[in-house]
Amino acid sequence: MNISIFGLGYVGCVSLGCLANNGHHVIGVDVSQNKVDLINKGKPTIIEKDIDTIIAEQHKLGSISATTDAMDAVIKTEISIIAVGTPSSPQGHLNLKYIFKVAENIGKAIQNKDEFHIAAIRSTVLPGTCDKVAEIIEKASGKKRNVGFAIVDNPEFLREGSAVQDYYNPPLTLIGSDNIDAANKVADLYRKLPGEIVITDLRVAEIMKYVNNTYHALKISFANEVGNVCSELGIDSHKVMEIFCKDKQLNISNYYFKPGFAYGGSCLPKDLGGFKTLAHDLYVKTPVIDGIGITNENQIERATDLILKYPNKKLGFLGLSFKAGTDDLRNSPAVRVIELLLGKGADIKIYDKNINTTMLTGTNKDYIDARIPHLSNLLVKDVDHLIETCDVLIVNTNEDEFKSKLVLIEDKIIIDFVRLDDRLLDYENYVGINWSTKKNNNDTYFSSEDTVL
Ligand SMILES: NC(=O)c1ccc[n+]([C@@H]2O[C@H](COP(=O)([O-])OP(=O)(O)OC[C@H]3O[C@@H](n4cnc5c(N)ncnc54)[C@H](O)[C@@H]3O)[C@@H](O)[C@H]2O)c1
Repeated sequence: MNISIFGLGYVGCVSLGCLANNGHHVIGVDVSQNKVDLINKGKPTIIEKDIDTIIAEQHKLGSISATTDAMDAVIKTEISIIAVGTPSSPQGHLNLKYIFKVAENIGKAIQNKDEFHIAAIRSTVLPGTCDKVAEIIEKASGKKRNVGFAIVDNPEFLREGSAVQDYYNPPLTLIGSDNIDAANKVADLYRKLPGEIVITDLRVAEIMKYVNNTYHALKISFANEVGNVCSELGIDSHKVMEIFCKDKQLNISNYYFKPGFAYGGSCLPKDLGGFKTLAHDLYVKTPVIDGIGITNENQIERATDLILKYPNKKLGFLGLSFKAGTDDLRNSPAVRVIELLLGKGADIKIYDKNINTTMLTGTNKDYIDARIPHLSNLLVKDVDHLIETCDVLIVNTNEDEFKSKLVLIEDKIIIDFVRLDDRLLDYENYVGINWSTKKNNNDTYFSSEDTVL
């Protein structure tokens, strides 16, 4: 394929060499004459292992060239990859002026082109950027998105220092687009690479790099805080984390990675509190670990606020315990939410087939007696009756019996804490605690500073 790459920095230079190495003809575009000259002499613009050999070889074969002439590069190619810088302002806003300038250049160039063109954004950009880039191209070209051109988001995951190795061994190749043909054409560039090719929505692809890198930073900070506590106790933190990583069921796995409601139960709150207190007593600062409980409280508040958006309604809770299949009410976040709502005079009914107040004993009973002493008056035995008589149904536990009943109901407000069933996402009156539904997935995340050209 004939490809143009805008930006000949770390990402652009590696993509230029590696795409050519995989059989494509690639034209690099940069505003820096110096970088353009380097490529045209067969030299890389960056220091990276193996890139000098690749650029020299591909230059010799005539597979790569570079120019400052954006118009010429776009006319001669089918896909333009955008790999210009997206630096942050001190407040953390992205400066997208380089991206928007390239969009304008691509738009002007495709005015003079009959063939369909694809702009693939490889730079790291916030959700909504691709739509803004498409608007700029439409304005500059007079062509319609998905008629004369398409936008694809194709975030880069390489790390400096091992960029060529990372390019050829990506964890996955991610492509976001509203145009499946364009997405597949960009995917064709990477078919020779290992790793799954994932084609998804534009905004999902745009946010992924931020989610990944935030998580990587969290991993490092978590391991460092554990290390700081261990070293104060004379424990070898490397042994600890090595064993931690051996648990592929709960620790290094997709378990617990589902957005939803707060955690609860008898173990997580207690043991997190124990670790925090241990660190405090050792005078070790652990702000990341301290923040976990704050996030959990925030989730309880968020759930309560969601329900309070429906005042004077009859509320029906489906499930009360901290997870399905147990009668353990200790630290169940739903108990906290109900306690708060009762304090505001809410009319509440609860169905949980595992809870029988006469069978509650010990700390489980003490917990509920201190918070909802009249629980037996709120509990109902017949889930159909609860569904029929309540206006707002709050799904707190992921039980199959709730699934089969709620997918048949369209006239009630359903507030879902557990992502019970994806069929519910289509419903007008469905609210997920922290995921979008069909009716609210078009938010834009631009600040005024970001959109300035
Ligand atoms: N460096 C990394 O390890 C890495 C990894 C993954 C993703 N990213 C992302 O990729 C993007 C590029 O990063 P980088 O490190 O390669 O940046 P860089 O600063 O090394 O290179 C950007 C290049 O874009 C050029 N440029 C600016 N305006 C231009 C224009 N109008 N036309 C053509 N070229 C123009 C600059 O002259 C420069 O050579 C950023 O969004 C970054 O966050 C970087």
